[in-house]
Amino acid sequence: MTEPFNGQASTLSQDELKTLVGRAALAYVREGEIIGVGTGSTVNKFLEALGQSGIRIAGAVSSSQASSAKLKVLGIPVLDANEVPSLSVYIDGADEIDAQGYMIKGGGAALTREKIVAASAAQFVCIADASKMVKTLGAFPLPVEVIPMASARIAMQFEALGGRATLRRSGERPLVTDNGQHILDVSGLQITDPLGLESMVNQWPGVVTVGVFAHQKANVCLLATPEGVQTLEFC
Ligand code: 5RP
Repeated sequence: MTEPFNGQASTLSQDELKTLVGRAALAYVREGEIIGVGTGSTVNKFLEALGQSGIRIAGAVSSSQASSAKLKVLGIPVLDANEVPSLSVYIDGADEIDAQGYMIKGGGAALTREKIVAASAAQFVCIADASKMVKTLGAFPLPVEVIPMASARIAMQFEALGGRATLRRSGERPLVTDNGQHILDVSGLQITDPLGLESMVNQWPGVVTVGVFAHQKANVCLLATPEGVQTLEFC
């Protein structure tokens, strides 16, 4: 299903596409519910739209300190995941998504909390602009959150698979996640078996979270294209 943009689509920038898909996600938010909220520039558009919508939710479980700060500015209570065992919906962006709903996530370094919150939700709604849709995952370097003392060893394990792992930096220093860990970004992988790769990397000592979301894939993708917002449903 595609919602058209009144014929103005071809002139829309990526930022405008993110705004449109952020607004489209409001269709999945019900008054009085607690929702799961992801991280990133597309989610920020969703939060802006939520703030303007007049929809009053009971609260949110957040996937990052950055999103928590934005929720608080909107006056939305941020709840502890341990106190909210189940959520009806989790709304988040992606760095890549394929035709099965498998994703690469973690470009904003929030992948661990994103996977935790997504696991509590009955429905994962991915919001993305069309540039995120790929045939095969892996052109976007795969983020992997790691325990710092294991990063060199894990980098070698990715090299054995044909990947090249780089420690993500924030200025001169390694980036430190909300969980106090580091991120490796692995380029050069063609992820033809997302479920298998996620399972395998999860077994490596020192891996906190691998940014393949295959076991925790999207149920729905709202994809902002030049022709309109498409709704893709995955079984
Ligand atoms: C953060 C993420 C984001 O969802 C992903 O990086 C997409 O971000 P954006 O909406 O800014 O393109 O996984 O860890």
